Amino acid sequence: MIKIAVFASGGGSNLQALIDAQENGLYPKGQIRLVFSNVPEAQALQRAENHKIESVAIASKGFPGTREEYDQEILRLCQAKKIDLICLAGYTRIMTPVLIKPYLFKMMNIHPALLPKFGGPGMYGHFVHEAVVKAKEKETGATVHFVTEGIDAGPVILQGDVKVHPNDTPLTLAERVLKVEHQIYPEAVRLFVEGKIKVDGDRVKLSY
Ligand code: GRF
Repeated sequence: MIKIAVFASGGGSNLQALIDAQENGLYPKGQIRLVFSNVPEAQALQRAENHKIESVAIASKGFPGTREEYDQEILRLCQAKKIDLICLAGYTRIMTPVLIKPYLFKMMNIHPALLPKFGGPGMYGHFVHEAVVKAKEKETGATVHFVTEGIDAGPVILQGDVKVHPNDTPLTLAERVLKVEHQIYPEAVRLFVEGKIKVDGDRVKLSY
């Protein structure tokens, strides 16, 4: 059994998509064992509770220690629960190598654009869709990628496209991109659980 942890800081609609996929049998050899949040009031924690999944919150705001010490606590938690895969789903905190290194190529993130476009520092949430609209892109989408030390820079696992309409606002676009996120994230988890993702240098090779 591949034990999965999902990290979320907000609403957790991607977490919900991962839970629903699990309940629909998309990855029978994987199981979400933990939902972690750095925001104790995150709605994602409630979603975990609704599905009887263990949830843990450690407030990052006001945490009495360094970023590394914070990540060390999360690492201890994940190791104690023998977590094999971490899925970041709207987790807004930048991580340190303390957590990234032990989970290299075992930690995924979902980003609401077609990386490497519209990624990097400051490119999150509505900022991404605002930038896409401003740049008059014809196409955007979502990317699932492995987490490495560079922000949004790790090997791409899956992408899904979304056409940008001339009358799109960042909000209308965000809505359609989110729908694609909910399709590709569970699929990426399925591929991982089935051992179909290989990393070759800085590229991912998928076997279907
Ligand atoms: C998503 O757009 C995701 O791509 C980004 O943060 C958002 C989280 O949404 N990383 P939700 O909390 O899963 O609804």
